[in-house]
Amino acid sequence: MAMFKIAVIPGDGIGPEVTESTCEVLRAVSEKSGHGFSFTEVMAGGIAIDTCGEPLPAETLKTCKESDAVLLGAVGGPKWDALPGNKRPEAALLGLRKGLGLFANLRLAILFPELKSSSPLRPDLVENGVDILIVRELTGGIYFGKRGLAPSEECLEDGTPKGMEAFDIETYSEAEIERILRVGFNSAMQRKKSLTVVDKANILETSRLWRKVTERIAPEYPEVSYEFMYVDNASMQLLRRPASLDVIVTSNMFGDILSDEAGMITGSIGMLPSASLGAPGKPGMYEPVHGSAPDIAGKGIANPLATILSAALMLRYSLGLPEEGIKIEKAVADVLSKGYRTADIVLSGETDILSTKEMTEKVIEAYRAL
Ligand code: IPM
Ligand code: MG
Repeated sequence: MAMFKIAVIPGDGIGPEVTESTCEVLRAVSEKSGHGFSFTEVMAGGIAIDTCGEPLPAETLKTCKESDAVLLGAVGGPKWDALPGNKRPEAALLGLRKGLGLFANLRLAILFPELKSSSPLRPDLVENGVDILIVRELTGGIYFGKRGLAPSEECLEDGTPKGMEAFDIETYSEAEIERILRVGFNSAMQRKKSLTVVDKANILETSRLWRKVTERIAPEYPEVSYEFMYVDNASMQLLRRPASLDVIVTSNMFGDILSDEAGMITGSIGMLPSASLGAPGKPGMYEPVHGSAPDIAGKGIANPLATILSAALMLRYSLGLPEEGIKIEKAVADVLSKGYRTADIVLSGETDILSTKEMTEKVIEAYRAL
């Protein structure tokens, strides 16, 4: 029986509530499977700014590096919105991604059959379900490129002085592109063997390099059929024919945008898990796709399922316990099919709304019964 070290970053907003729920579920996994989990809580985000004066204390990163996996709730909130970029709670996320070398972000957009009617798309577009995996590059591109802000000496064509001028540079190296594309191809191999590489190659030099690298390595995955798609078209196809997309691999910025869109298509962004992975053997980080939802924080009504499903991914990718991960996913599907809902996923006509704690208990019950 193994003993796993898990760093827990509750963070801000509903983060503490959903991570607490998820640790409860992992305790149930421990009881049933005999594997041990030790949880070390560390700070990041707004709460770390308030307590230690910085969004990502060195101690936090150190603890995460020494763990087998990291469970993160959410960071950010209006309270810290006025702070400069590198002092904001979001800087903690970027610091964790870079510091842990988490270059591959896997975001699932799954339409649970029970929640079909929550999709904002026409029923005929989603009747066969939606199950899209977005593989987002996470430690490069415009998020980590050179940036600056300075007064400009120049004027517009009509003589208006430009005033302040800012820039953010998108940079990608062949090696960075290759390693994320390989995650895309390998994910496609485990699914429907279909890969969509999303870019803006009609404009961006970085995108043209993505295409070149794709064509170079694609012959190593002869079973995978791949296509290139411009990001504007991809955002349209996600709405037009979501069921025909399977694995999408793309840059940091495009992945950020498309994953919110894909999440919304499922109608329940409160349900979507994510995994951020680095080199094999290094700790991965697992977090819900939804944010800190400050408007409902502390009320005990947040949907814990996205974080619980993120823990299922953790069991699979970082802890080598895929069977337990599958059981957690089954338990979540079970509670949904029995009609248990938190406020965010309640359908019209349903009146019995569960709190975060009640939903967690239902999942644990369903898991124990498997
Ligand atoms: C996400 C979020 C983050 C990102 C923010 C909070 C920095 O939107 O994880 O998608 O842009 O990566
Ligand atoms: Mg985002």
